[in-house]
Amino acid sequence: MKLTPEQREQFDREGYLFFPGLFSREENEVLTNAVPALYARRDVCNVREKDSDAVRTNFAAHLYSVPFAKLARHPRMIDPVVDLFDEDVYMHQFKINGKMAFEGDVWQWHQDYGTWLNDDLMPTERAMNVAIFLDDVNDFNGPLMFIPGSHKKGAIKAKHDLTTTSYPLWTVDNELIAQLVQRAGGKQGGIVAPKGPAGSMILFHSCLVHASSSNLSPWDRVSVYLSLCTVSNHIRRYKRPEYIAHRDFAPIQTLPDDCLLTDYAVDLPWENGMPQRALQTSAEEIRQAA
Ligand code: SIN
Ligand code: MN
Repeated sequence: MKLTPEQREQFDREGYLFFPGLFSREENEVLTNAVPALYARRDVCNVREKDSDAVRTNFAAHLYSVPFAKLARHPRMIDPVVDLFDEDVYMHQFKINGKMAFEGDVWQWHQDYGTWLNDDLMPTERAMNVAIFLDDVNDFNGPLMFIPGSHKKGAIKAKHDLTTTSYPLWTVDNELIAQLVQRAGGKQGGIVAPKGPAGSMILFHSCLVHASSSNLSPWDRVSVYLSLCTVSNHIRRYKRPEYIAHRDFAPIQTLPDDCLLTDYAVDLPWENGMPQRALQTSAEEIRQAA
């Protein structure tokens, strides 16, 4: 899937692109059906909400689940990013966020590149998020909110918030958010929240400032996020465990477009458990062999 010149221009201006209903109901079902077993696992890959057992986020399913291993190589998700960067990408992070009915907690205002820079020493912002909705997203189940154009600010000063939710995040303070929203149009478009049916896809810049509210509705809002980094821009520090920030910098090889509905062999390296090294961390910068 190649982007049109208009889409490229819109991405440059707004920092995101929305593709409503890009995946069919049948394709979406293949993914959705695999989620309960993943969320039932009692291991480090599932981070649960602060005050409940509901899964907030599941990490690295592409290494132990066939449908998600296929999604991680899906041309509709990978090709537009390779096209935009004109470089191959590797999987920096793979997560299935729950935002479950009544229990899904907030994601504070942040840029993903803030965390990738501060924790992982990713050299530049040449990385991208691609999200797919596994549930319909509406006004009430905590849609993702963006400040259009905020990616133009580059990496913004952030503070490490270890207490608001169960998951540490480098967040942007409220005063700056208010300024960015005002600059983006205030009440006229200063915050947008793409909504649409299950199977919709959003592609957004690693510096785009975003957040989401809690989910007080009776509808789950499960979404998958692929964080794709250009291979030359790979992380330089292993401060976070490998199931959160990956260390395999090999370019992603895409599968055919029909892969979710057809049998294709995919590698599942963590099918029988995560290797011990995936839990090891280091605060040291990685020295590249000459
Ligand atoms: C994120 O920013 O990584 C997740 C936000 C959300 O799922 O609402
Ligand atoms: Mn984020």
